Amino acid sequence: MEPIAFFDAKPYDQVWFDKLNTQYQIRYIGDRLSADTAHYARGCRAAVAFVNDKVDTDALISLKENGVEIVLMRSAGHNNVDVACANDLGITVTTVPDYSPHSIAEHAMALTLALNRNIHRAYARIREFNFSLNGLNGVDMYGKTMGIIGTGRIGRVLADISKGFGMNVIAYDPFPNMNLGVKYVRLDELFSASDVISLNCPLTEESRHMLSDQAFERMKPDALVINTSRGALIDSKALLKALKTGRIRGAALDVYEEESGVFFEDASWKRDRDDVLSLLIALPNVIVTSHQGFLTDEALSGIAGSVLTSLDQFFSGSTPESAITEKKEYAHV
Ligand code: NAI
Repeated sequence: MEPIAFFDAKPYDQVWFDKLNTQYQIRYIGDRLSADTAHYARGCRAAVAFVNDKVDTDALISLKENGVEIVLMRSAGHNNVDVACANDLGITVTTVPDYSPHSIAEHAMALTLALNRNIHRAYARIREFNFSLNGLNGVDMYGKTMGIIGTGRIGRVLADISKGFGMNVIAYDPFPNMNLGVKYVRLDELFSASDVISLNCPLTEESRHMLSDQAFERMKPDALVINTSRGALIDSKALLKALKTGRIRGAALDVYEEESGVFFEDASWKRDRDDVLSLLIALPNVIVTSHQGFLTDEALSGIAGSVLTSLDQFFSGSTPESAITEKKEYAHV
């Protein structure tokens, strides 16, 4: 059986890979992939990685030296992978573009509703036997404007869910989908017209810190900001300022720009905590979840199935359909 190095392995990943895998000897490695850990893949031609692995030049060179020919991301995003370097080194990189977009879109709406109606605060209060309603009021979502930034797979589902709530949906995307039945607007217009702003676009050099001081300045004071995409789409310090000065009503974050090493882990023992994250978490109008948008059975089984299919395609000598590196012929088969 072909050995596969599986980095940043968590029990919830293993359940689905073990259920669906019949072909490979999967070496589950708890550590995240980086230049320091890449040598754990020695003897494997394939390495499986996740969103907070550091698949940079040094890691890729080390993987290559250790015999790895393909890196399979268990995610749709690949901002943590130096794809150009992988191309130069002849390493194939695949992603999982198509696992349940519903899981993330539903999580975005769950965060929106919880934040709007202060469910997180009600839950904490009632555990103290405090049944007061003071300060817990929200607004109806019906008739409000949902502004979606990025109308790809997830953004589209969120648009449909939002319409189901009777919301007016507007969107910004450099590649609009005219069949979606939403009104596309300029980004600055979306900022000023939306009651809820949901980030559903990839992190690129262009989109990094797209929610900056200037963006928050344009928003309605009642706006809710929801980020289930990638942390660095938001300038976290600017967000903290906007929340503390009442520029916006609240924020719900499933991702954070410095989440690596903290999210997905029990960091409760850590004293050296990220200051901005600590301050954000302490605010009553902020909800943070630990990058769990993908955490449904459907998404996890979809991820495992897609990675295993890419492995099958690779080991049978074809370029996996989900490759984001240049297509090439495999001389080794
Ligand atoms: P997708 O590739 O189907 O759609 C992305 C859309 O964003 C495209 O329509 C694209 O044209 C648009 N876009 C690109 N640059 C943009 C910009 N600067 N401004 C506005 N729109 C822009 O991607 P999908 O599957 O919808 O995923 C979106 C993002 O969600 C991923 O890039 C990933 O970062 C994040 N994600 C988060 C998960 C979680 O567990 N929280 C799980 C899966 C994905």
